[in-house]
Amino acid sequence: MSNNRLYLYPVWLRIWHVINAISIILLGITGISMQFTNLESPLIRFNSAVSLHNFIGVVIIISYSFFFIAGILTGNNKHYKLKLKGLIDRLYKQGKYYVFGYLKGEPKPFHISEEEKFNPLQKVSYFGTMYLLVPVVIITGVALLFPEMIIEKFYDMSGIRLTTFFHSIAGFFILIFLIIHLYVITIGKHPLKNFKSIITGYHEAE
Ligand code: HEM
Repeated sequence: MSNNRLYLYPVWLRIWHVINAISIILLGITGISMQFTNLESPLIRFNSAVSLHNFIGVVIIISYSFFFIAGILTGNNKHYKLKLKGLIDRLYKQGKYYVFGYLKGEPKPFHISEEEKFNPLQKVSYFGTMYLLVPVVIITGVALLFPEMIIEKFYDMSGIRLTTFFHSIAGFFILIFLIIHLYVITIGKHPLKNFKSIITGYHEAE
């Protein structure tokens, strides 16, 4: 293998990623349809949207459990561990590169290796999505599937309403993550270069 080709995305990770990506997109579409379109002219018929959303929710629970356990067993979870010391400075450098440096053709502030495959912004956004937002969506989603588990009132607020609020807000931020993720992966020598990596498993160093 040549030195500038790094094998960063093993087969299990690529399979998980494609199932996860399709599931999140479908959950987003069915969720938006249930929440924002009216019953007379819905994006997707309400009952179908509910059934599809629940079914894909179960797929996400299984695929997330797989991602979580495989991450521990293979050591892939080490890439998500945040080192707080100097984090703000590293985030600033990477952010500055994305906003100005990249357009001016400056060199990347962080280089990818097998030990450190994410730049600081990727690390924070992947950590936040995979270890905070997705678990919140799953836990609140399971609670909404079995509403008898939810406490009736929390102070003056309805438990179900509060759970729905956290479920929707976490789902909303996952969709925001997805939009930014899709933009960021196009940054590089060629817009499809990173996309190729998640299909073949190999990252081509620049
Ligand atoms: C059409 C949808 C998507 C495309 C085209 C896509 C594309 C990519 C690409 C090219 C990479 C590798 C390059 C990189 O690290 O930046 C990647 C990695 C990753 N993506 Fe996505 N993605 C999609 C959806 C998602 C969604 C919905 C999530 C989570 C909610 C997600 C989470 C991740 C994570 C956590 C990684 C790093 C995996 C690892 O190496 O441990 N992606 N994605």
